[in-house]
Amino acid sequence: MALLIRNGEIVTVGARVHGDIYVENETITRIGKNLEAPPDAEIIDATGKLVFPGFIDPHVHIYLPFMSTFAKDTHETGSIAALVGGTTTYIEMCCPNRNDDALEGYQLWKSKAHGKSACDYAFHMSVTKFVKETESQLRQIVADGTASFKIFLAYKNFFGVDDGEMYQTLELAKRLGVIVTAHCENAELVARLQQKLLAEGKTGPEWHEPSRPESVEEEGTGRFATFLENTLATGYVVHLSCEKALRAALDAKSRGVKIHVESVLPHLLLDKSYAERPGVEGMKHVMSPPLRAEHNQGSLWNALRAGSIETVGTDHCPFDTGQKLLGKDSFVSIPNGIPGIEERVNLLYAYGVKRGRLDLDRFVDAASTRAAKLFGLFPRKGTIAVGSDADLVVYDTNYRGVVSAKAQHTNNDYNGFEGMPIDGRPSVVTVRGKVQVRDGKFVGERGRGKMLKREPTHF
Ligand code: URP
Ligand code: ZN
Ligand code: ZN
Repeated sequence: MALLIRNGEIVTVGARVHGDIYVENETITRIGKNLEAPPDAEIIDATGKLVFPGFIDPHVHIYLPFMSTFAKDTHETGSIAALVGGTTTYIEMCCPNRNDDALEGYQLWKSKAHGKSACDYAFHMSVTKFVKETESQLRQIVADGTASFKIFLAYKNFFGVDDGEMYQTLELAKRLGVIVTAHCENAELVARLQQKLLAEGKTGPEWHEPSRPESVEEEGTGRFATFLENTLATGYVVHLSCEKALRAALDAKSRGVKIHVESVLPHLLLDKSYAERPGVEGMKHVMSPPLRAEHNQGSLWNALRAGSIETVGTDHCPFDTGQKLLGKDSFVSIPNGIPGIEERVNLLYAYGVKRGRLDLDRFVDAASTRAAKLFGLFPRKGTIAVGSDADLVVYDTNYRGVVSAKAQHTNNDYNGFEGMPIDGRPSVVTVRGKVQVRDGKFVGERGRGKMLKREPTHF
């Protein structure tokens, strides 16, 4: 059935126009004023509302065996949470560990999503070791449409790679035209600092940040950049949290290194005092890199406004209160992660656009378009144009609400952003022309999401 979204303010990067959007067979076929539709078309009145391209979260964890447990969402719960929050595509980190076979891991991650996600999705393939079969396995994975890799410089002996493996991964990625995303913290320093703090009897969640100080992330970011410089590969720093690491990335960029930067919602909005709260309240705010001293947030927002931080993801990774308590005797055992897939767009709108830190153009770019461009999804996703998938968010800027675990769709028993006011929310969300959300409720079809096949673009 055709769909007509009438009389909205259509916001894309570089343009804001009032008009109508007409959709046939999952695709936008016309954009204009006073468009006609057949009598059986579904009509959505967007008068007084903004219409955005479907938002893209470039960094999520859904299926994740990690720190002696599993992240809590399934693709059923995670995709519904994403959609209610306006995210119509997410890119999940496929994370087999060093002892797993990469190809088997890739098939396992795909099987967890297939037929389960209500929104479209893709994967970044983690390279957690580089052995003799790695190159041929990665070639198969890229040929299957997964055209981005992930490496961890942190998480020694689990996901982490050493410098030799990083070099081999980047060198292969350059040949294949694949972008490499990276978690940049020095694994050895983290391990040593953790042991030192524990030996001093410092066991609570407030010691997580001191065990991974800013300099540890600065070093990881700088080293990743140096390896990019010497392999000519293209890199993307995930969840960059602080000024020092930002400087390392931007210094490299100014030398011509092809390095892109993502920040995530927790680092933009929460500071380390959240993780210093006593007991499990602090544990709920443990992630890596850690929440930082508040002064970093201003620098991150400024860089985001300027576009030197290009994208905002979530690093969505839910662990419930019981799981967080695995670390009650030692911060080293607290499962790392703060979920946010449902809140990202609304919080970025409220604390970015409404507070005057971001204009609408940069908001759409950071939360949708730039990720589509970097990860081979554009112009199918990330914009509103004839021929693009009809992933659309009709946004109600008059809505007022408060983030609350009680109302969330994410499978978790708390929300790290609890109580934060929001100034808008999606009124209608479509995925390839089908209405999946109306005013905070999932009304669509479960399992409708497709895996998005992507071509390498970073030669
Ligand atoms: O604390 C985090 N970030 N958990 C998820 C795994 C990762 O490092 O992205
Ligand atoms: Zn990470
Ligand atoms: Zn992550």
